[in-house]
Amino acid sequence: MPRFSRRSFLHLTAAASAAAAFRGFTEPMLAAAARRRPHAADAVLIDSNENPLGPCRAACDAMSTILPKGNRYADSLTDDLVNTFAQIEGLTPDSVRATVGSTPALLSSVMAFTSPRRSYVTADPGFEAGLYMAPVVGARVVNVPLTKTHAHDVKAMLATAPDAGLFYICNPNNPTGTLTPHSDIEYLVANKPKDAIVMVDEAYIHFSEAPSALDLVKAGKDVVVLRTFSKVYGMAGIRCGFLLARPELADRALEHGGLNFMPVTAVVAATASLKDLQLVPERRRINASIRHQTFEWLDRNGYSYIPSESNFFLVDTKRPGKDLRDAMAKENVLIGRVWPIMPTWVRVTVGTQEEMEKFQTAFQKVMKG
Ligand SMILES: Cc1ncc(COP(=O)(O)O)c(C=O)c1O
Repeated sequence: MPRFSRRSFLHLTAAASAAAAFRGFTEPMLAAAARRRPHAADAVLIDSNENPLGPCRAACDAMSTILPKGNRYADSLTDDLVNTFAQIEGLTPDSVRATVGSTPALLSSVMAFTSPRRSYVTADPGFEAGLYMAPVVGARVVNVPLTKTHAHDVKAMLATAPDAGLFYICNPNNPTGTLTPHSDIEYLVANKPKDAIVMVDEAYIHFSEAPSALDLVKAGKDVVVLRTFSKVYGMAGIRCGFLLARPELADRALEHGGLNFMPVTAVVAATASLKDLQLVPERRRINASIRHQTFEWLDRNGYSYIPSESNFFLVDTKRPGKDLRDAMAKENVLIGRVWPIMPTWVRVTVGTQEEMEKFQTAFQKVMKG
Protein backbone atom coordinates (compact mmCIF):
# COMPACT_ATOMS: atom_id res chain seq x y z
CA MET A 1 0.00 0.00 0.00
CA PRO A 2 2.84 2.31 -0.81
CA ARG A 3 1.11 5.45 -1.91
CA PHE A 4 -2.58 5.12 -1.16
CA SER A 5 -3.76 4.74 -4.75
CA ARG A 6 -7.51 4.60 -5.27
CA ARG A 7 -7.24 0.93 -6.24
CA SER A 8 -5.45 -0.09 -3.07
CA PHE A 9 -7.89 2.00 -1.07
CA LEU A 10 -10.83 -0.07 -2.31
CA HIS A 11 -9.05 -3.31 -1.50
CA LEU A 12 -8.09 -2.60 2.06
CA THR A 13 -11.27 -2.67 4.07
CA ALA A 14 -9.69 -4.46 7.02
CA ALA A 15 -7.09 -1.79 7.43
CA ALA A 16 -9.82 0.82 7.13
CA SER A 17 -11.53 -0.52 10.23
CA ALA A 18 -8.20 -0.40 12.07
CA ALA A 19 -7.95 3.21 10.98
CA ALA A 20 -11.31 3.95 12.53
CA ALA A 21 -10.08 2.66 15.88
CA PHE A 22 -6.82 4.52 15.47
CA ARG A 23 -8.57 7.85 14.98
CA GLY A 24 -10.29 7.49 18.34
CA PHE A 25 -6.95 7.24 20.11
CA THR A 26 -5.10 10.08 18.53
CA GLU A 27 -7.70 12.82 18.64
CA PRO A 28 -8.40 13.10 22.35
CA MET A 29 -4.99 12.12 23.59
CA LEU A 30 -2.56 13.97 21.40
CA ALA A 31 -4.76 16.98 20.83
CA ALA A 32 -5.24 17.35 24.57
CA ALA A 33 -1.52 17.00 25.15
CA ALA A 34 -0.62 19.55 22.51
CA ARG A 35 -3.44 22.04 22.93
CA ARG A 36 -2.26 25.60 23.08
CA ARG A 37 -3.81 27.89 25.64
CA PRO A 38 -5.87 30.86 24.40
CA HIS A 39 -3.54 33.74 23.62
CA ALA A 40 -3.49 37.27 22.27
CA ALA A 41 -2.92 37.74 18.55
CA ASP A 42 0.49 39.26 19.22
CA ALA A 43 1.65 36.58 21.67
CA VAL A 44 5.14 35.17 21.22
CA LEU A 45 4.57 31.51 20.34
CA ILE A 46 7.71 29.64 21.31
CA ASP A 47 6.03 26.63 22.88
CA SER A 48 5.57 24.10 20.06
CA ASN A 49 8.87 23.97 18.12
CA GLU A 50 7.32 25.58 15.07
CA ASN A 51 9.38 27.53 12.57
CA PRO A 52 8.58 31.25 12.62
CA LEU A 53 9.83 31.57 9.02
CA GLY A 54 6.90 29.56 7.66
CA PRO A 55 6.87 27.77 4.29
CA CYS A 56 9.41 29.02 1.73
CA ARG A 57 8.36 31.25 -1.19
CA ALA A 58 8.36 28.37 -3.70
CA ALA A 59 6.13 26.31 -1.40
CA CYS A 60 3.62 29.17 -1.06
CA ASP A 61 3.58 29.68 -4.83
CA ALA A 62 3.05 25.96 -5.44
CA MET A 63 0.12 25.90 -3.00
CA SER A 64 -1.54 28.95 -4.60
CA THR A 65 -1.21 27.36 -8.03
CA ILE A 66 -2.71 24.04 -6.97
CA LEU A 67 -5.69 25.45 -5.03
CA PRO A 68 -8.14 25.56 -7.97
CA LYS A 69 -7.30 21.91 -8.64
CA GLY A 70 -8.16 20.92 -5.08
CA ASN A 71 -11.18 19.00 -6.36
CA ARG A 72 -8.88 16.18 -7.62
CA TYR A 73 -7.28 13.39 -5.61
CA ALA A 74 -4.21 13.82 -7.82
CA ASP A 75 -2.08 11.05 -6.35
CA SER A 76 0.51 11.57 -9.09
CA LEU A 77 1.57 14.67 -7.14
CA THR A 78 2.45 12.41 -4.22
CA ASP A 79 4.45 10.26 -6.63
CA ASP A 80 6.36 13.40 -7.65
CA LEU A 81 7.14 14.16 -4.02
CA VAL A 82 8.23 10.60 -3.27
CA ASN A 83 10.40 10.42 -6.40
CA THR A 84 11.99 13.79 -5.65
CA PHE A 85 12.93 12.76 -2.11
CA ALA A 86 14.07 9.29 -3.20
CA GLN A 87 16.35 10.81 -5.81
CA ILE A 88 17.86 13.40 -3.44
CA GLU A 89 18.54 10.80 -0.73
CA GLY A 90 19.51 7.86 -2.96
CA LEU A 91 16.60 5.71 -1.78
CA THR A 92 14.30 3.52 -3.85
CA PRO A 93 10.88 5.16 -4.22
CA ASP A 94 9.14 2.19 -2.60
CA SER A 95 11.02 2.84 0.64
CA VAL A 96 9.62 6.37 0.80
CA ARG A 97 6.07 6.77 2.13
CA ALA A 98 4.45 10.19 2.36
CA THR A 99 2.24 10.72 5.39
CA VAL A 100 0.12 13.57 6.73
CA GLY A 101 2.85 14.81 9.07
CA SER A 102 5.02 12.25 10.82
CA THR A 103 2.68 11.69 13.78
CA PRO A 104 0.43 9.15 11.98
CA ALA A 105 3.52 7.19 10.93
CA LEU A 106 4.89 7.22 14.48
CA LEU A 107 1.63 6.07 16.05
CA SER A 108 0.99 3.43 13.42
CA SER A 109 4.49 2.04 13.97
CA VAL A 110 3.87 1.77 17.71
CA MET A 111 0.68 -0.17 16.97
CA ALA A 112 2.49 -2.39 14.49
CA PHE A 113 5.59 -3.29 16.49
CA THR A 114 4.49 -3.30 20.14
CA SER A 115 1.99 -5.51 21.95
CA PRO A 116 1.34 -6.94 25.43
CA ARG A 117 4.44 -9.09 24.86
CA ARG A 118 6.64 -6.54 23.05
CA SER A 119 7.52 -3.33 24.88
CA TYR A 120 7.94 0.25 23.70
CA VAL A 121 11.37 1.56 24.71
CA THR A 122 12.03 5.27 24.80
CA ALA A 123 14.25 7.90 26.39
CA ASP A 124 13.34 9.98 29.42
CA PRO A 125 12.91 12.83 28.84
CA GLY A 126 11.75 12.11 25.32
CA PHE A 127 9.01 12.95 22.82
CA GLU A 128 5.80 11.54 24.26
CA ALA A 129 3.57 10.67 21.28
CA GLY A 130 4.44 6.97 21.41
CA LEU A 131 3.80 6.92 25.15
CA TYR A 132 0.15 7.63 24.50
CA MET A 133 -0.19 4.85 21.98
CA ALA A 134 1.79 2.00 23.55
CA PRO A 135 -0.60 1.43 26.49
CA VAL A 136 -3.53 1.44 24.09
CA VAL A 137 -2.17 -1.75 22.51
CA GLY A 138 -1.30 -3.12 25.96
CA ALA A 139 2.45 -2.64 25.56
CA ARG A 140 4.79 -2.04 28.46
CA VAL A 141 6.46 1.38 28.26
CA VAL A 142 10.12 1.34 29.20
CA ASN A 143 11.49 4.81 30.00
CA VAL A 144 15.28 4.89 30.04
CA PRO A 145 17.04 8.03 31.34
CA LEU A 146 19.40 9.77 28.95
CA THR A 147 23.16 9.54 29.55
CA LYS A 148 25.09 12.36 31.25
CA THR A 149 25.63 13.94 27.82
CA HIS A 150 21.89 13.64 27.14
CA ALA A 151 22.29 10.97 24.47
CA HIS A 152 20.05 7.89 24.33
CA ASP A 153 21.58 5.27 26.63
CA VAL A 154 21.38 2.46 24.10
CA LYS A 155 23.12 -0.08 26.33
CA ALA A 156 20.65 0.57 29.15
CA MET A 157 17.78 0.43 26.67
CA LEU A 158 18.92 -3.00 25.53
CA ALA A 159 19.53 -4.25 29.07
CA THR A 160 16.20 -2.99 30.46
CA ALA A 161 13.99 -4.31 27.69
CA PRO A 162 14.83 -7.80 26.45
CA ASP A 163 11.17 -7.93 25.34
CA ALA A 164 11.47 -4.80 23.17
CA GLY A 165 9.22 -4.53 20.13
CA LEU A 166 10.15 -0.95 19.23
CA PHE A 167 13.08 1.24 20.28
CA TYR A 168 12.26 4.91 19.75
CA ILE A 169 15.30 7.15 19.19
CA CYS A 170 14.69 10.83 18.63
CA ASN A 171 17.76 12.48 17.08
CA PRO A 172 18.16 15.32 17.98
CA ASN A 173 16.12 14.45 21.03
CA ASN A 174 12.99 16.37 21.93
CA PRO A 175 13.09 18.06 24.51
CA THR A 176 16.87 18.24 25.10
CA GLY A 177 17.93 19.01 21.51
CA THR A 178 20.95 16.75 22.06
CA LEU A 179 22.41 14.12 19.74
CA THR A 180 22.91 10.39 19.97
CA PRO A 181 26.03 9.31 18.07
CA HIS A 182 25.42 7.35 14.89
CA SER A 183 27.71 4.64 16.24
CA ASP A 184 25.34 4.17 19.22
CA ILE A 185 22.39 3.76 16.87
CA GLU A 186 24.38 1.19 14.89
CA TYR A 187 25.20 -0.60 18.15
CA LEU A 188 21.51 -0.70 19.07
CA VAL A 189 20.59 -2.10 15.66
CA ALA A 190 23.33 -4.73 15.84
CA ASN A 191 22.44 -5.87 19.37
CA LYS A 192 18.64 -5.58 19.53
CA PRO A 193 16.38 -8.60 19.95
CA LYS A 194 15.90 -10.28 16.58
CA ASP A 195 12.36 -9.11 15.81
CA ALA A 196 12.59 -5.64 17.36
CA ILE A 197 12.55 -2.51 15.21
CA VAL A 198 14.53 0.68 15.75
CA MET A 199 12.63 3.85 14.87
CA VAL A 200 14.77 6.97 14.44
CA ASP A 201 12.72 10.15 14.53
CA GLU A 202 14.64 12.80 12.58
CA ALA A 203 12.07 15.58 12.94
CA TYR A 204 14.86 18.03 13.85
CA ILE A 205 17.87 16.53 12.05
CA HIS A 206 18.19 19.48 9.66
CA PHE A 207 18.97 21.90 12.47
CA SER A 208 22.07 19.91 13.42
CA GLU A 209 25.10 18.64 11.53
CA ALA A 210 24.39 15.07 12.67
CA PRO A 211 24.46 12.23 10.16
CA SER A 212 21.09 10.70 9.30
CA ALA A 213 20.19 7.06 9.96
CA LEU A 214 19.01 6.72 6.36
CA ASP A 215 22.17 4.72 5.58
CA LEU A 216 20.71 1.96 7.79
CA VAL A 217 17.47 2.02 5.79
CA LYS A 218 19.49 1.75 2.57
CA ALA A 219 21.35 -1.21 4.07
CA GLY A 220 18.00 -2.97 4.60
CA LYS A 221 18.24 -3.00 8.42
CA ASP A 222 15.27 -3.22 10.81
CA VAL A 223 15.18 0.56 10.95
CA VAL A 224 12.35 3.01 10.31
CA VAL A 225 13.26 6.69 9.91
CA LEU A 226 10.69 9.47 10.33
CA ARG A 227 11.00 12.91 8.75
CA THR A 228 8.62 15.85 8.83
CA PHE A 229 8.08 19.10 6.96
CA SER A 230 6.76 20.69 10.16
CA LYS A 231 10.09 21.94 11.46
CA VAL A 232 12.89 23.26 9.24
CA TYR A 233 10.47 23.58 6.30
CA GLY A 234 7.94 25.59 8.38
CA MET A 235 4.90 23.56 7.33
CA ALA A 236 3.46 22.31 10.66
CA GLY A 237 -0.07 23.41 9.78
CA ILE A 238 0.15 22.09 6.23
CA ARG A 239 0.95 18.49 7.29
CA CYS A 240 3.47 16.42 5.44
CA GLY A 241 6.03 13.85 6.55
CA PHE A 242 7.78 10.66 5.50
CA LEU A 243 8.22 7.17 6.81
CA LEU A 244 11.37 5.62 5.36
CA ALA A 245 12.12 1.92 5.57
CA ARG A 246 12.75 -1.07 3.33
CA PRO A 247 9.46 -1.68 1.47
CA GLU A 248 8.14 -4.69 3.38
CA LEU A 249 8.93 -3.03 6.72
CA ALA A 250 7.29 0.22 5.59
CA ASP A 251 4.14 -1.74 4.67
CA ARG A 252 4.03 -3.26 8.17
CA ALA A 253 4.74 0.07 9.88
CA LEU A 254 1.84 1.78 8.16
CA GLU A 255 -0.65 -1.08 8.40
CA HIS A 256 -2.48 0.67 11.24
CA GLY A 257 -2.17 4.17 9.88
CA GLY A 258 -5.42 4.26 7.99
CA LEU A 259 -5.76 4.91 4.33
CA ASN A 260 -5.89 8.35 2.94
CA PHE A 261 -4.81 10.57 0.13
CA MET A 262 -2.28 13.26 0.79
CA PRO A 263 -3.54 16.87 0.70
CA VAL A 264 -2.45 18.32 -2.65
CA THR A 265 -1.36 21.55 -0.98
CA ALA A 266 0.99 19.65 1.32
CA VAL A 267 2.63 17.55 -1.38
CA VAL A 268 3.27 20.39 -3.83
CA ALA A 269 4.63 22.58 -1.03
CA ALA A 270 6.87 19.76 0.18
CA THR A 271 8.18 19.04 -3.32
CA ALA A 272 8.92 22.72 -3.93
CA SER A 273 10.68 22.94 -0.55
CA LEU A 274 12.91 19.95 -1.33
CA LYS A 275 13.89 21.54 -4.63
CA ASP A 276 14.98 24.74 -2.89
CA LEU A 277 18.52 23.59 -2.13
CA GLN A 278 19.40 26.73 -0.15
CA LEU A 279 16.53 26.37 2.29
CA VAL A 280 17.97 23.87 4.77
CA PRO A 281 21.51 25.31 5.08
CA GLU A 282 20.16 28.84 5.33
CA ARG A 283 17.58 28.04 7.98
CA ARG A 284 20.07 25.91 9.91
CA ARG A 285 22.43 28.89 9.98
CA ILE A 286 19.70 31.36 11.05
CA ASN A 287 18.48 29.06 13.80
CA ALA A 288 22.00 28.34 15.10
CA SER A 289 22.87 32.02 15.17
CA ILE A 290 19.78 33.04 17.19
CA ARG A 291 20.18 30.00 19.45
CA HIS A 292 23.81 30.85 20.21
CA GLN A 293 22.95 34.47 20.95
CA THR A 294 20.24 33.27 23.34
CA PHE A 295 22.70 30.90 25.03
CA GLU A 296 25.20 33.77 25.43
CA TRP A 297 22.48 35.83 27.09
CA LEU A 298 21.58 32.94 29.42
CA ASP A 299 25.30 32.52 30.27
CA ARG A 300 25.72 36.23 30.99
CA ASN A 301 22.74 36.12 33.31
CA GLY A 302 23.69 32.93 35.11
CA TYR A 303 20.88 30.67 33.88
CA SER A 304 21.46 26.96 33.28
CA TYR A 305 20.41 25.38 30.02
CA ILE A 306 21.18 22.27 28.02
CA PRO A 307 23.24 23.15 24.93
CA SER A 308 20.90 22.03 22.20
CA GLU A 309 21.60 21.41 18.52
CA SER A 310 18.03 22.03 17.49
CA ASN A 311 15.39 24.74 17.34
CA PHE A 312 14.53 24.46 21.05
CA PHE A 313 16.32 24.06 24.37
CA LEU A 314 15.64 23.28 28.02
CA VAL A 315 16.28 25.98 30.61
CA ASP A 316 16.35 25.45 34.39
CA THR A 317 13.92 27.72 36.22
CA LYS A 318 14.87 26.42 39.72
CA ARG A 319 11.19 26.22 40.62
CA PRO A 320 8.25 24.17 39.34
CA GLY A 321 8.55 24.73 35.60
CA LYS A 322 4.80 24.93 35.24
CA ASP A 323 4.68 28.00 37.49
CA LEU A 324 7.22 29.77 35.34
CA ARG A 325 5.36 28.78 32.22
CA ASP A 326 2.17 30.32 33.62
CA ALA A 327 4.00 33.49 34.64
CA MET A 328 5.53 33.80 31.15
CA ALA A 329 2.09 33.39 29.57
CA LYS A 330 0.93 36.43 31.59
CA GLU A 331 3.79 38.32 29.91
CA ASN A 332 2.38 37.23 26.53
CA VAL A 333 5.23 34.78 25.89
CA LEU A 334 4.14 31.16 25.53
CA ILE A 335 6.81 28.62 26.38
CA GLY A 336 6.54 24.99 27.34
CA ARG A 337 6.33 22.22 28.22
CA VAL A 338 7.74 20.50 31.34
CA TRP A 339 8.83 16.85 31.60
CA PRO A 340 8.15 15.07 34.94
CA ILE A 341 11.73 13.74 35.18
CA MET A 342 13.08 17.35 35.05
CA PRO A 343 10.33 19.29 36.84
CA THR A 344 12.18 22.61 37.08
CA TRP A 345 13.21 22.70 33.43
CA VAL A 346 11.06 24.22 30.69
CA ARG A 347 11.41 23.79 26.92
CA VAL A 348 11.72 26.96 24.88
CA THR A 349 11.53 27.08 21.08
CA VAL A 350 14.01 29.28 19.22
CA GLY A 351 11.95 31.99 17.54
CA THR A 352 13.01 35.03 15.57
CA GLN A 353 15.57 37.49 16.93
CA GLU A 354 12.75 39.82 17.97
CA GLU A 355 10.81 37.01 19.66
CA MET A 356 13.89 35.91 21.61
CA GLU A 357 14.43 39.48 22.79
CA LYS A 358 10.85 39.46 24.12
CA PHE A 359 11.57 36.08 25.70
CA GLN A 360 14.63 37.50 27.46
CA THR A 361 12.76 40.51 28.83
CA ALA A 362 9.88 38.39 30.12
CA PHE A 363 12.14 35.64 31.47
CA GLN A 364 14.30 38.09 33.39
CA LYS A 365 11.19 39.75 34.84
CA VAL A 366 9.50 36.53 36.05
CA MET A 367 12.74 34.96 37.30
CA LYS A 368 13.54 38.04 39.36
CA GLY A 369 9.96 38.79 40.35
C1 LIG B 1 10.19 14.52 17.80
C2 LIG B 1 8.94 14.80 17.07
N1 LIG B 1 8.47 13.88 16.22
C3 LIG B 1 7.34 14.06 15.54
C4 LIG B 1 6.61 15.22 15.68
C5 LIG B 1 5.33 15.35 14.93
O1 LIG B 1 5.46 16.18 13.87
P1 LIG B 1 4.37 16.27 12.71
O2 LIG B 1 3.26 15.33 12.98
O3 LIG B 1 3.93 17.69 12.71
O4 LIG B 1 5.11 15.88 11.49
C6 LIG B 1 7.06 16.22 16.54
C7 LIG B 1 6.29 17.45 16.71
O5 LIG B 1 6.60 18.34 17.44
C8 LIG B 1 8.25 16.00 17.26
O6 LIG B 1 8.72 16.89 18.12
